Amino acid sequence: MIPPNPKKAIAMISHGTFSEATSVEVVNARHSTCANARLAEVMSSLVKHLHAFAKDIHLTEDEWNLAINFLTKTGQICSAERQEFILLSDVLGVSMLVDAINNRRPEGATENTVFGPFHVDNAPKRQMGDNICLDGKGESCLFEGEVVDLSGQPIAGATVDVWSDNADGFYDVQQPGIQPPGNNRGVFVTGADGRYAFVGIKPVSYPIPDDGPVGQMLAHLGRNPFRPAHMHYLITAAGFQRLVTHTFVGGDDYLTSDAVFGVKASLIAPFERLKGQATEWRSNFTFVLNPA
Ligand code: BEZ
Ligand code: FE
Repeated sequence: MIPPNPKKAIAMISHGTFSEATSVEVVNARHSTCANARLAEVMSSLVKHLHAFAKDIHLTEDEWNLAINFLTKTGQICSAERQEFILLSDVLGVSMLVDAINNRRPEGATENTVFGPFHVDNAPKRQMGDNICLDGKGESCLFEGEVVDLSGQPIAGATVDVWSDNADGFYDVQQPGIQPPGNNRGVFVTGADGRYAFVGIKPVSYPIPDDGPVGQMLAHLGRNPFRPAHMHYLITAAGFQRLVTHTFVGGDDYLTSDAVFGVKASLIAPFERLKGQATEWRSNFTFVLNPA
């Protein structure tokens, strides 16, 4: 309420009016009545950092309009099959940062990495040893190993959900009508020995979807859109933290420039060439789960 004394009113208004110097305090004062304390904390920090960013780079009006245009296009290209905002979060390193903050693990436990947009719920359930490559392309590879706890004891009944691109560098969901559904993906359940085994292909490096605004941004920045070759794993077991990870193919050209910052040294797996056998490669990896 404006007090009847005009001098006092002017003092109150000028104290609380918006200027370059007072911008953060003025905006955040409006959050003091928010009933949700966490929302108020998140929004106040966002305003503080966003305003500091604009001041730091002396954001021009043209640049801000360009940014709004970019975000608009990012939203417009999203569909049930395409999530450009996740891609944006991935290439800015935010996905990996949020993952790191929320999945701190003790020494010895397998590290998480980026989930990515190509997992599907209800992938085909398969028997141990099955071949998940349905299009006959690529170099065959036996993936095998164990799922164990921190003391090395096998974990029975662990669900091992795996997916990779095909030899052309595309996931089945990116090429409906071209690749058979369920190509290079499957769900396995470990037995009493905690072991898993399946035949897939030696994965190949591939570009993330780069025909939208995020791809354009990478091109402007002179950044490559490639991910190094990897096999995805989602491993769940009762009493253990969910593990979202990959194994990477050692020696890949893009290990040091992964477009989404997913590479961790501990996830680079051996790939051994097999001679005189139907399967051309073998990759052994032990996954160590952290208790829930
Ligand atoms: C992937 O590995 O499948 C992926 C991760 C982040 C963005 C795009 C693809
Ligand atoms: Fe991938």
